[in-house]
Amino acid sequence: MPLGPIVWLQTEHLDQLEALLIGAGLPAEDCALQGDIFYGIFDRDELIAAGGLEAAAEYALLRSIVVKSHYRGRGLARSICEFLLERARLQGRVAVYLLTETAAEYFQNLGFEQVARAGVPASIAASQQFSSLCPDSASCLLMNLSCDPTTSNGAQ
Ligand SMILES: CC(C)(COP(=O)(O)OP(=O)(O)OC[C@H]1O[C@@H](n2cnc3c(N)ncnc32)[C@H](O)[C@@H]1OP(=O)(O)O)[C@@H](O)C(=O)NCCC(=O)NCCS
Repeated sequence: MPLGPIVWLQTEHLDQLEALLIGAGLPAEDCALQGDIFYGIFDRDELIAAGGLEAAAEYALLRSIVVKSHYRGRGLARSICEFLLERARLQGRVAVYLLTETAAEYFQNLGFEQVARAGVPASIAASQQFSSLCPDSASCLLMNLSCDPTTSNGAQ
């Protein structure tokens, strides 16, 4: 059976989102607070993949990218990342940051580059993911949308 499309997650999906994140070892503490920034893919009623785009002034934070183990390797994370990066472009964000402990290479393959965490803009540094939830050991990655060769117009 084909999997569902990428949909905006509602409050009633938060429990499934938190369980998915915790099961993958990702922080879930601020999901309820950030409730309206998450998107996901369902297999029938089961949330099997998710990701969020947190706005931070002219930047955005790509976060909580997760796919249930059984569904990995089918391009679901790539679909969600591309969907969220397109949203960031449409919102006029100039760059997207992310933190990861285990998947830096995955995001580099999507076009992100590793940067020093100390150099991130203040609005990104102030996010809970940066300031308290992700450990200092996490890699910091950046995609500069205004220089993204895959877009013809840059930031809109
Ligand atoms: C990382 C993750 C989101 C990838 O999900 P996915 O749907 O399997 O990814 P895709 O199908 O888009 O891509 C699969 C490819 O990425 C590679 N890949 C998967 N995880 C990787 C990782 N941690 N590092 C490097 N490459 C990775 C796979 O080997 C596969 O490569 P191939 O296409 O050459 O066979 C998933 O493994 C996951 O949920 N991990 C735990 C949570 C996490 O670390 N999230 C990222 C931090 S926000």
